[in-house]
Amino acid sequence: MLILSPSLLSVDFAHIADGIKELDRAGVPALHLDVMDGSFVPNISFGAPVIKCLRKETNMIFDVHLMIDEPARYLEDFKKAGADWVTIHAESCTHLHSTIMKIKELGMKAGVALNPATPVSVLDYVMEDIDMVLVMSVNPGFGGQSFIQSSLRKIEEVRRMADERDLDINIEVDGGVNLKNVESVINAGANVIVAGSAVFGGDAYENSCDFLRIFEKTGRK
Ligand code: DX5
Ligand code: ZN
Repeated sequence: MLILSPSLLSVDFAHIADGIKELDRAGVPALHLDVMDGSFVPNISFGAPVIKCLRKETNMIFDVHLMIDEPARYLEDFKKAGADWVTIHAESCTHLHSTIMKIKELGMKAGVALNPATPVSVLDYVMEDIDMVLVMSVNPGFGGQSFIQSSLRKIEEVRRMADERDLDINIEVDGGVNLKNVESVINAGANVIVAGSAVFGGDAYENSCDFLRIFEKTGRK
């Protein structure tokens, strides 16, 4: 199933709740929440207390993308804040497997994110334990960057790996996705589509509807 997960990073932060309402009105199923610590990535965004406040505003799936060092330290906080899916970076965990297990023990879905230069092989021994792979199609830290073309090949590789092992897992693509290139990422095998500036850079309701219309057109909605 195709899932649109708009990234809140590009919302007008003075009016976050209004932005969320527009997504709800369009029938968007998930909200992508980018947590940045200024160490793993060169930017600081928001953390669990903000997510906790937003939880009261919507029933959308909270798709939390942790761009922080050693995320295992904060997993309980994100659970309490209302996270449904938690994605950690393979590059940010000394103990990737145990961090995945901890996310699942807390009752959340576990995802593993790969930076553009990280090979798919890091997933080899954890693939069976996770619910989602997030392929970064920009270097993490900022919204509004251009899509890195080699990510298409990586999405295809992850989809092949999942199919070969008969695993029904989500493949999320994050960074530089817009109305022009979204079909190519879907064709490569992604089914969870993050879009920040392509949604909040204009009318969030209209842009979301445009994405959802393309999903319908692909017949995989
Ligand atoms: C980047 C974040 C993305 C970002 C995507 O580090 O993980 O989720 O908000 O923004 P766009 O869609 O504008 O590239
Ligand atoms: Zn993200």
